Formats: sequence, C-alpha cells, structure tokens
Amino acid sequence: MGRMEGKIAVVTGVGSGLGKAIAEMFAAEGAKVIGADFNAENGQATVDGINAAGGEATFVQANLRLKEDVEKVKNVAVEKYGTITTLVNSAGILVHKHFLDHNDDDYTKIDETNFRAYIWMMQAFLPLMTKENSHGKNSVVNIASISSIKPESDAYYYGAFKAAIDLMTRNLTREFSPQGVRLNVICPGPVTTSMTPKEVLESPEIQADMCKHVCSIGRLGEAKDIAYAATYLCSDEATWVTGAHFVIDGGACMMG
Ligand SMILES: NC(=O)c1ccc[n+]([C@@H]2O[C@H](COP(=O)([O-])OP(=O)(O)OC[C@H]3O[C@@H](n4cnc5c(N)ncnc54)[C@H](O)[C@@H]3O)[C@@H](O)[C@H]2O)c1
Repeated sequence: MGRMEGKIAVVTGVGSGLGKAIAEMFAAEGAKVIGADFNAENGQATVDGINAAGGEATFVQANLRLKEDVEKVKNVAVEKYGTITTLVNSAGILVHKHFLDHNDDDYTKIDETNFRAYIWMMQAFLPLMTKENSHGKNSVVNIASISSIKPESDAYYYGAFKAAIDLMTRNLTREFSPQGVRLNVICPGPVTTSMTPKEVLESPEIQADMCKHVCSIGRLGEAKDIAYAATYLCSDEATWVTGAHFVIDGGACMMG
C-alpha cells in the first residue's frame, strides 16, 4: 500500500477493463485519480467504487475523439489539483475484420480513438508534468498491444495504430525525459475485458484453446495483470525506467 502516494493521476477508459483496473489500483495505492470515459454510467460507477472504498477519485465524462473534451478533462484536473503527476491512456477500441472489409469509417475511428486522442492527451498534460525537480517522478503510460509487434490477422488498422503510439511514446522520451517526465508503453496480450470478441467471451472451448495455444502460461490475462505493471511504471520504484515497452502477455509473443 502507498506506492502511488502523492500522485495525481489522469486515467482514460476508466469505465471498463484495463482503465478501470488501473484507476482502482492507483487509488488503492494512494493516488488521487481523475478518470475519463465517454460511458458516463460505467465511468461514474468506477469512481463511486473507488470513493466508497476510501480512495479519492473524480469522473469526467469525455469523448476523447473531441479536442474540447480533452480540454474538459484538463480543466477539471487543474481546477481540482492545480497539476498532475501521472497520465495513463487506456481508452481504446478494436476493429477486427478481414482487410478488404476495413472501411474509411473504421480507419477514422481507430485513428481518432487509439492514436490521436493519446496525442491530444499528452499535448494537454505534458506541459503540466515537466518539472526540472521531478527526478522522473512524473510519468506517462500509453497502453498499446502485442498487435503492435506481432502480426495478427484481422486487426490491421488496430495493430498499425498501436505500433504508431508505441513508437511515438518511446520517441517522446528524447524530448521529455530530460525535462523530468518518463514515458513508457505497455503491450498487453489477450486480457478478458469488454473488448474481448464476443465469440471468445461466450465460448469456453475457444478460451481453452487460446490458453493452450496462445498463452504459454496457460491462462488469459486479467485486467489486474496490466494494472500491476502500470502501477510499477508510474510509481517511484521506476524512476530509472523510460522508453520501455513492457510486453505483458502470458507468453503470447513467444508462441508460434
Ligand atoms: N483487452 C485486451 O485483450 C487488450 C489487449 C491489448 C491491448 N488492449 C488495449 O487496452 C486498452 C483498454 O482496453 P480494454 O480491454 O480495457 O477495453 P474495454 O472496452 O474494456 O475498455 C475501453 C474503455 O474505453 C472507453 N472509450 C472508448 N472510446 C472512447 C472515447 N472516444 N472516449 C472516451 N472513452 C472511450 C470505453 O467506454 C471503455 O470504457 C485499449 O487501448 C486496448 O486497445 C486491450
């Protein structure tokens, strides 16, 4: 307990899955959390749960594909705390279909949600986080995917934009780590969340097959497997870690 004491963390996608687990773990470890999501009901429920458990969290309903909503998240954070120390971009969507079925709308949605919103969030918050005396205590974690490093059928635009945010995040260390901000990437493998394709969620046979053939550890990931990594990367235990891309995938990248 207390590994995130003193941190003020903005986390996106807190309504579900990894963003929710990260916000909950950060708060349990002492961070004050500002959680954003466009799903108001789910996002508010996460924040209510954190506050009921004795943590401190605020929810901001925001569609991060809109620049004015990104500004809204920033304004709430600044009004409430004056600054932030930690940013985790987790909100994302998956488009999973054959290449020739991918259309322009899929391209725009994936670009705006999984790439441009991450950029806008960093452009909004990095100026608040750069402090010469930060000594690496301020940091960004962007959630990419093993789809950014391992070819995966039917996730063509998704994998390409995940690779883009992965590289951009690591590139940004050259400019921002000298200014005290660490930037790292987490590349999760298959974690059971609402993003998991329905046919997988509803089929114990497919899940058993994936445990056998996809993850060498023999189970699919849970959101908290990723939250542990985000907590480490954003805590002061990681003040010498920047430009890392953490593959947390139950061994999936090592399988054929
Ligand atoms: N689940 C996995 O297996 C897996 C694997 C690799 C990477 N990821 C990545 O992890 C991140 C989180 O995924 P997840 O599994 O938790 O998915 P999820 O669907 O459970 O949660 C995503 C959350 O993002 C929110 N969101 C989506 N678009 C938004 C927008 N425009 N503005 C604000 N909020 C928005 C949704 O409302 C939802 O609450 C994503 O970036 C995803 O690509 C997930």
